Amino acid sequence: MTKTSAKPIFILNGPNLNLLGEREPEIYGSDTLADIEAMCAKKASELGFSVDFRQTNSEGELITWIQEARGAASGIILNAASYTHTSVGLYDAIVASQIAVIEVHLSNPYKRETFRHTSYVSPAASGVICGLGASGYLMAIDGVANLANKKN
Ligand code: DQA
Repeated sequence: MTKTSAKPIFILNGPNLNLLGEREPEIYGSDTLADIEAMCAKKASELGFSVDFRQTNSEGELITWIQEARGAASGIILNAASYTHTSVGLYDAIVASQIAVIEVHLSNPYKRETFRHTSYVSPAASGVICGLGASGYLMAIDGVANLANKKN
């Protein structure tokens, strides 16, 4: 269903994801963050949504954006990158936000170092997609759109 009045989907990216394309391409692929943003905008528009796509290296800024999403977003797609594995503050912000959050990772953290096996995001997320590269973001857009349409 196309809803031109739908609130944007916030797509929030954490530290070092600004380096995509150059950063360990054998793990994260060759798409830049700008490439992923363009794919997401196209996919969301096909479903009647816009995206508000952001990246920060700051934990506090990520938390502020999650707070902002409450009331302003249809849902959040969150790749919190390394803060996934460390941030109780992120967990608290997601719980307080009371909106659907889909956790996304380009790589599969569970196949990697053990310090990546803990996620402070997953226990608060509606869904988790990992290991599928940039296409995971597109699947997450489907997920947020489905949840938002169900709610309305
Ligand atoms: C990541 C996985 C994290 O473990 C890592 O710290 C990242 C990227 C991913 O998208 O695969 O920076 O979130």
